Amino acid sequence: TVSRITLNNGVTVPQVGLGVFLVPDESTQVTVEKALELGYRHVDTAAAYDNEAGVGAALRASGLPRDEVFVTTKLRNGEQGYDSALRAFEASRAALGLDVVDLYLIHWPVPSKDLYVETWRAFERLLAEGAVRAIGVSNFLPEHLDRLVRECEVVPAINQFEHHPTYRQEATREAGLRLGVAAEAYSPLGRGQDLEAPAVTAVAVDLGVTPAQVILRWHVQRGTVVIPKSVNPERQATNIDLFSFELSADQMAAIDRLDSPDGRIGSDPATTAFTQFRH
Ligand code: A2P
Repeated sequence: TVSRITLNNGVTVPQVGLGVFLVPDESTQVTVEKALELGYRHVDTAAAYDNEAGVGAALRASGLPRDEVFVTTKLRNGEQGYDSALRAFEASRAALGLDVVDLYLIHWPVPSKDLYVETWRAFERLLAEGAVRAIGVSNFLPEHLDRLVRECEVVPAINQFEHHPTYRQEATREAGLRLGVAAEAYSPLGRGQDLEAPAVTAVAVDLGVTPAQVILRWHVQRGTVVIPKSVNPERQATNIDLFSFELSADQMAAIDRLDSPDGRIGSDPATTAFTQFRH
């Protein structure tokens, strides 16, 4: 079974979830239903992915008790601001068909608009009202995390950022961990690109597992929450089958050495604008 990470407010999250970025709404229900059958109990979506309705339909079709599945969604960049964040949350909650969202994230800091502190106060209100079980951020750099912690009451439970062997952003991960913010990796496989790194395939051969399992197990052993995206049931199944083998210290170090400052695939959090972004 999938291990759980305890967030700074005591809420626990399954360490492996299914990401549905770029899954069209029409196929999202089928993709998520299959994942729930395979044992996934954590799904990560966003208003900007335009597939919250598909996620909600899958949850209902699965027949699983509501408290068995951890659901994350995110505030669209253009909805930042106190009142607009509260309105956008209602739209997400309606699209998902849920009373309570497990984790709500500010999708990008959008520093040029300087609205994320005000937005965070709306998130604190949603938390106080019990509409969400935890609040967090995504794509926040250390300076954005520091500012929220300095100016607001609630420390984010999670920062979800691009994090994979060839692009680790260790400064962001460590700044969060020092403040009690759990690290969550999006594109944990480097959107598939890290799977071919020779260090990864060598460890895969040694352990008799797939390259994806090597990378995801590397994340798990570092305490990171991961949300690999796959629409393929066989790959979905191997992506949560991470708890019957482990990487040695040497194998971990071999993957560690893949880090590069040039490995970013997604948008740059420092400059991502209000309406356009990747992931
Ligand atoms: P697919 O959806 O066809 O399985 P990331 O989560 O880092 O963004 O990576 C997602 C990409 O990696 C998708 O293109 C996905 O394709 C592919 N992928 C996901 N899991 C695996 C796996 N176990 N083996 C190979 N490719 C995978």
